[in-house]
Amino acid sequence: MPDTPRAARKARVAAFISGAGTNMAALLYAGRLPETHFEIVLVAANDPEAPGLALAEAEGIETFALAHGGVPRAEHDAAMEAAARNAGAEYIALAGYMRILTPGFVERWEDRILNIHPSLLPAYPGLETHRKAIEAGDPHGGCSVHLVTQELDAGSVLGQAEVAIRESETAESLARRVQFAEHQLYSRVLDEWCARPFRPDWLLEELRRRALALPESEERESHGAPAFKLAGKSGKFFAHFSDRHHGEAHVAVLVKTSGQEELAELVERDPDTFYRPAYYGASGWVGLVLNRKDCDWEQVDYWLERSWRAVAPGRLAAAFDI
Ligand code: GAR
Repeated sequence: MPDTPRAARKARVAAFISGAGTNMAALLYAGRLPETHFEIVLVAANDPEAPGLALAEAEGIETFALAHGGVPRAEHDAAMEAAARNAGAEYIALAGYMRILTPGFVERWEDRILNIHPSLLPAYPGLETHRKAIEAGDPHGGCSVHLVTQELDAGSVLGQAEVAIRESETAESLARRVQFAEHQLYSRVLDEWCARPFRPDWLLEELRRRALALPESEERESHGAPAFKLAGKSGKFFAHFSDRHHGEAHVAVLVKTSGQEELAELVERDPDTFYRPAYYGASGWVGLVLNRKDCDWEQVDYWLERSWRAVAPGRLAAAFDI
């Protein structure tokens, strides 16, 4: 068998279900392939009889169930959320979870809850999607994976798959075929979403947005890599993007410290975050690792600003403070 690339690290995902759990199963098995960037660590349901729970148990996955009947919504959500946190989940995949989450829950997990919906959104949010697509005479039904926001089925669509609607199609026959498509789509989209914080192109885009938000900042290449400097001929560089330069293990941003003492202290205190970069280290630049679990973008912002201040003329820094 050819060698399969192994994901650098798998993100921990909790799947919330209400029923059969076929999408959860598709995610579970996809997550076990060496090259995927996620793994299902918990299956939680709002119905203790949900058939998907038994499957998850048979596969040795932790489960949690709490019937929602008679439990206030906020309390039920809090129990589901606690189960996800206790399992160390970093993302939640709603997989046929037929409950609307409370706004606070959605807010705390912003950009980290995905849902699969059986229509080509924005068409047909809500229920009875297949019947509606057939009755409207649509040539295709399908499914969408989207981010969960407070408005039902309205978050950004991350991926879709179309499924042809045949003559004499019924809602049931269409639903069955859409599920094949769902099982393909969901695992791919979730994989891509979880891989993002490790991908150099995504990290550069995120860094670029933040660095260019600083006053009079512009992007220029430096030694063949993207870098950020103050505008103008004599504007100095304040950040360099490094994608495993000089054989280093990291995707990082290099920023200016106050000198060798601070650089050494940072690396000693937090070696998972900071490192002494080749060549640049000699002039007091520190490497801040971006391709790691839970990269702290506020910390990146702090260092970008500090580094920018170190090269910005006084009048600019003063204007920025105002
Ligand atoms: C799936 O078809 C999913 O798209 C749908 O429930 C089914 C669950 O099946 N979700 C919704 O309608 C959400 N509004 P599964 O339990 O076999 O994955």
